[in-house]
Amino acid sequence: MALPRFNWKPKKREQIVVIDLGTRTIKAVKLQRRGDAYQFAGYSILDAPASDSKPSTDLWAELFSKLIQPLGGHIRQVVIALGVNDALLRQAELPMLAVSDLRTMVKFNSKNYLQQELTDYVFDCCIMPPSPGAPPPEPSKAGAKCKVWVGGAKQSLLNSLQEAARKAGLTIEAIVPGLVAPGNAFEMAQPESFAKEVVALADVGFKSSAVSILSQGELMLNRVVGIGGDQLTNGLAEAMSISYAEAEGIKVGMPREVETVLQSQIVPLGRELRASIDFFEHQHDKTVGHVFLSGGSARSDFIIQTLQSELMVPCQTWNATSFLELALPPQQLGEVEQVTAQLAVAVGAAVAVI
Ligand SMILES: Nc1ncnc2c1ncn2[C@@H]1O[C@H](COP(=O)(O)OP(=O)(O)OP(=O)(O)O)[C@@H](O)[C@H]1O
Ligand SMILES: [Mg+2]
Repeated sequence: MALPRFNWKPKKREQIVVIDLGTRTIKAVKLQRRGDAYQFAGYSILDAPASDSKPSTDLWAELFSKLIQPLGGHIRQVVIALGVNDALLRQAELPMLAVSDLRTMVKFNSKNYLQQELTDYVFDCCIMPPSPGAPPPEPSKAGAKCKVWVGGAKQSLLNSLQEAARKAGLTIEAIVPGLVAPGNAFEMAQPESFAKEVVALADVGFKSSAVSILSQGELMLNRVVGIGGDQLTNGLAEAMSISYAEAEGIKVGMPREVETVLQSQIVPLGRELRASIDFFEHQHDKTVGHVFLSGGSARSDFIIQTLQSELMVPCQTWNATSFLELALPPQQLGEVEQVTAQLAVAVGAAVAVI
C-alpha cells in the first residue's frame, strides 16, 4: 500500500530504525534487509513524556538516545512515525497534477481542499491508483480529478523533532503519519486477508484509537475515535473509587476479577468502533468480516473478547512482526511476543520506507 510521506524518496536500504511517538509509550524497531527478506533486529519501548507539558528538545533528545541504545550498532538515521494528534491524514478529490504541485496547492488552499484552515503545515500527497495494484494515473487530462491521500504535520513540530534528533546525534530521514502504518504491516503479515477480505484494523492507543478499513487491499477509510486505554483505566478507577495506578494494575493484571465493571468501560469503545464500521458498510455496501486489533490494549484477551461481543464481528489481535525473520538479542527473543501488538505502527512505517 502506498503511504503519504513527508519529503521522502524511498530507496533500497540495508537497515531502518523507526521511532513511533506514541502518547503513552514511544517505541523503536530496527529492521534489516537480507536479500528479499527482512529481519527484525531489535526493539525498544519507553514511557512517553507526560502529556500535560510540552517536552523540551533536550528531553526528546535524551529519550531518543535512550530508546535507540538497546538496538545496538551504530545508528545515525531514523524515521519518525507521528501520532494521530500530530499528523493529519485525509482523503481528498484533487485536480490531476504532479505530486509536487498538489503539495503546494493543498498548502495554500487547505480550507478549500481539506475543509480546515491549516497554517504552518507541511503536506505530502499520495495519488491513489484507480484500483489496487494499478499504476497511479498520469497528471494529464485538463479538469480530471484523482483520489489523493494527504498527510500533513506542523512545520514547527518537525523543526523541534529535527533539533532533538540532531542533539541526540541522529538525522531524521523521513517523518510519516502513523495512522496508515498498521495497514502496511498488515499487508506483509496477513497477505491473504489483506488481498481478499474486507477488514477493520483498530490500533487502540492511549487517549484515542485509530481505525482503518481495508477492502481487498485498498484503504477505504481512516478514522480516529477519542477512546483508548487511558479512558478504560480512568473509568475503572472512578467506578471502583481507587487510584489510577491501582486501576491500571487491575486492568492489566487481573481483568476478570472486575469483569462487569471493566466490561462497562470497554462498551463505549466498542460502540465507537462499531459506528466507524457501520459508516463504511452503509457507504460501500460491503461487510467487514474481521477486526484486527493492535496497540497496548490488544495485549488483553479480555478486552478483545469484550469488543467482539459488542461489535459482533470476529476480533483478534495480530502479530505485525510475523513476516520478519527474528534476529533479536536473546533477551528480547523471550519477551517479544508480549509486545508485538504495540509495535504495529513502528513496523508498518518501517516496511513502507525500507
Ligand atoms: N496487558 C495489557 N492489558 C490491557 N491494557 C494494556 C496492556 N498493556 C498495555 N495496555 C494499555 O495500553 C495503553 C498504551 O498503549 P499504546 O502503547 O499502544 O499507546 P500509545 O501508542 O502510546 O498511544 P497512541 O497510539 O494513542 O499515541 C495504556 O493505556 C495501557 O494501559
Ligand atoms: Mg500508538
